[in-house]
Amino acid sequence: MPWLLAIVAYLLGSLSFAVLLGRWLGTGDPRLAGSGNPGATNMLRLAGRKAALFTLSGDLLKGLLPVLLARHFELPAVQQGWIGLAAVCGHLYPLYFHFRGGKGVATAAGLLLGLYWPAALLALAAWLLTFALTRISSLAALVATPLTLPLLAWQQPSLLLPVTLLAALIVWRHRSNLRDLYGGRERHF
Ligand code: G3P
Repeated sequence: MPWLLAIVAYLLGSLSFAVLLGRWLGTGDPRLAGSGNPGATNMLRLAGRKAALFTLSGDLLKGLLPVLLARHFELPAVQQGWIGLAAVCGHLYPLYFHFRGGKGVATAAGLLLGLYWPAALLALAAWLLTFALTRISSLAALVATPLTLPLLAWQQPSLLLPVTLLAALIVWRHRSNLRDLYGGRERHF
């Protein structure tokens, strides 16, 4: 059962709403414009607020639904964590889009929301505060992501490994943003 749910989560995570929406709206593949990231931030740049909101909601649900499904089948928290991580991996390396995916922030937020909502709330508060101060989406994600680790580990120690891996993957996928942040070239809103 856990393996089956992890496969379903990966396949669901592989649905890139930004790419699909770009095709549908005729705004093009977000992987080829702006920051090149198929995520809500880049959709805001390329296609406007509604498209960004739709992308954000879809990507968030991809992380949330598999965790809720795992909980419905009464799987332990650690397995819920791995199953949610499989959804994030789908978003990062999507089966249907040549394994060229996004950075995982919204899908990870959905996963956190399912695992332990106060951690998602903390991440949201840190993201909003950093964004309000800097107007830089990637920096907000890079500040918010590691902050959730101690809270989750305290609440459920068995989650430490999957959520540490989650945070490491998110930072790894932001390496071009980190380069641009150091170089003072990162995009502002
Ligand atoms: O959630 C993605 C964000 O952290 C960075 O997006 O498009 O500015 O690279 P972008």
